[in-house]
Amino acid sequence: MAESDEGRVEEEDRGSSTSGGGTSQGRLVVVSNRLPIVLTRKSGGGWNVEPGSGGLVTAMAPVLRNRGGLWIGWPGTTEWDGVEDALRKLDPSTGYSLIPVRLTREEEEKYYRGFANEVVWPLFHDLQSHCNFDPAYWDTYQNVNRKFAEVVAQHTGPQDFVWIHDYHLLLAATELRAMGVKSKLGYFLHIPFPPLDIFVKMPWRLELLLALLQYDIIGFQTMRDRRNFLQCLRALVGAADLCGRGQVCDIELEHDKLRLGAFPISIDYKWFASRAGSKEVAESAWHVHENLPDRKIVLGIDRMDYTKGIPYRLEAFRHLLRTNPELRNKLTLVQVVVPSRRGIPEYDALKTHIERLVGEINGEFTSQSGWVPIHYSYRSLDHYELLGYYRACEIALITPIKDGMNLVAKEYCASNIEENGVLILSEFAGAAAELQKGALLVNPYDVVRMSEAISRAYHMKPDERHARMRRLRRSVRKRDIFWWVDSFLEAAIAKNLDSFPVIADYVPDGAPDI
Ligand code: F6P
Repeated sequence: MAESDEGRVEEEDRGSSTSGGGTSQGRLVVVSNRLPIVLTRKSGGGWNVEPGSGGLVTAMAPVLRNRGGLWIGWPGTTEWDGVEDALRKLDPSTGYSLIPVRLTREEEEKYYRGFANEVVWPLFHDLQSHCNFDPAYWDTYQNVNRKFAEVVAQHTGPQDFVWIHDYHLLLAATELRAMGVKSKLGYFLHIPFPPLDIFVKMPWRLELLLALLQYDIIGFQTMRDRRNFLQCLRALVGAADLCGRGQVCDIELEHDKLRLGAFPISIDYKWFASRAGSKEVAESAWHVHENLPDRKIVLGIDRMDYTKGIPYRLEAFRHLLRTNPELRNKLTLVQVVVPSRRGIPEYDALKTHIERLVGEINGEFTSQSGWVPIHYSYRSLDHYELLGYYRACEIALITPIKDGMNLVAKEYCASNIEENGVLILSEFAGAAAELQKGALLVNPYDVVRMSEAISRAYHMKPDERHARMRRLRRSVRKRDIFWWVDSFLEAAIAKNLDSFPVIADYVPDGAPDI
């Protein structure tokens, strides 16, 4: 991922002070389920530790280095021999410390796979029928949140700002306050927050809401999520005062005040745009078209997850080929699925379902000339392959049935340096709020209109493609990952909230505009 220096340049460009400065402030302590590293066993024993490559790490690394800081989280393994030593060895290169939280195999099972990924994940994506509300999961979830809090309490002081991330750690603030921790506590939810009538299905809804009230500031991806959270607070807890239209607002609770904001997460735009222009990526893009000549390519890239809407997307593609025979041989769908959360039954079943559908569609349409409608792969891509696809594919088809943000959409735009790609985007992805003016928005359940959107993208004139993509890229460039970190940290300490902008919102209204 991006060199951290690029982050600093970005901060200086904007004259931001929050991330880089603040030596009189305490340290920044980031807490997330996973540490930002990839651990792999060495063949002769011991561990290889490589820094993680996500946008969060890229954004946080310069901030942590400048302010001094810690990152607390689970290293992703329940085998412990040598892990702490391996992490200590990594410290000098990151400029900040990594503190591991030890999980047992049973905790991994019930807290991570269980409560986080079989309860919160599906419910918060509006998929209550996928939930397994096993009470044993809840018990372990509480215990593990306490375990994280103990590690935080042990390593922090009252001057530090503790920034906790995501749905694995909804209860951490309650545990920390119960331990007497006085630090300022911020929380960012990376996934959607569901509407009231879905949230109330959670057997532990009140416990979760009351726990969230212990934070000083809560960040959501979009205004939609903030609105849903407020609706739940008003109905279940009785919070007063209305939030305004601005990005950040305060609400009055019975004994306290809580700050809420919408902070759409983003990517390191400059990194994607500049790497996409490299010789290696140009070659990789050339190979994509060389192997799939004389046709337009539609790209789908997703983590293997039932929230990504892959089967509906495949059905839409099948519908397109059935109803527009003239497009056969002229269009190929490249669908890359990145393995994720293996071993969770829903995920394993989804893989089988997707592969069966791909087989059916290819069986129905593959032509004698050798044209195969869907090129499917189930693996991770390296950067060159990924950026090569982003550059080469004329259409990106990103249609999650619900998504906190969806960074693939933003990466596609940043990497589309020729500005001739068309983005087809689900109206239920968080990214729809910011990208609605340049993308073709679709309802990911609507197979017929999705297929019409692909046809429209296929036939779109170059002028319109350019105008739309330029607009999309401008929007991603303006609010990149460094803006995201800065605005959250500024909001955590701001006295006056008027300087925060009104943030783009998306409210479905009739049929999406295709
Ligand atoms: O979108 C939520 C998220 O937790 C991301 O932060 C992460 O990249 C992804 O889901 C997969 O997470 P994991 O493999 O840790 O379950």
